[in-house]
Amino acid sequence: MKTIWLIGAFAFVALTTNAVAEDIDAGKTLYTANCQKCHGANGQGGIGKKLIGDASKWEFAAFKNAVLNGLDDEGHKLKQPMPLFGKLGLTDPKGKVPDDTDLQNIFAYVKTLSGKKG
Ligand code: HEC
Repeated sequence: MKTIWLIGAFAFVALTTNAVAEDIDAGKTLYTANCQKCHGANGQGGIGKKLIGDASKWEFAAFKNAVLNGLDDEGHKLKQPMPLFGKLGLTDPKGKVPDDTDLQNIFAYVKTLSGKKG
C-alpha cells in the first residue's frame, strides 16, 4: 500500500511540477514569515536544521512531506520544534495549510539561498 501511495505521489509531482511556474518572491514572503526564525535567513540553520545542501536537494515530494507531516526523506520523524504545518497551518497567513503552490514557491526560494552563516 505504502509503495503504491509513493508511486502515486511521485507521478502526481512529475505531472504537476512542470506545469507550476514557481514564484520565488511569494516563496520568500512565506519563508521569511514562517521558516526563517528557525532555519535562518540564508537557510543556514539555527534552531532548525540547515536546509542548504541537504533538504534543498530533496525531491519536492520529500520536502512537502517534511513541511506538512514532519517526516524526513527517509520517513523518520523530525525533531521538535519543527511545526506540523499540515496540521497547524502557517503562522502567516495564520492557520492556512500550505498548498502545493505555496510549497513549490518556498522550495524554489530555499534553493536560491546561500546557506552562509549570519
Ligand atoms: C519553530 C522552529 C521551526 C520552524 C518555524 C520551522 N522549522 Fe523546519 N525544522 C525545525 C527543526 C528543529 C528541524 C530539525 C528536526 C530534526 O533534526 O529532526 C526542522 C527540519 C526541517 C526540514 C528537514 C531537514 C532535514 O534535513 O531533515 C525541512 C525540510 C524543514 N524543516 C522545512 C521547514 C520549512 C519550509 C519551514 C517553514 C514553512 C520550517 N521548516 C519551519 C524547526 C523549525
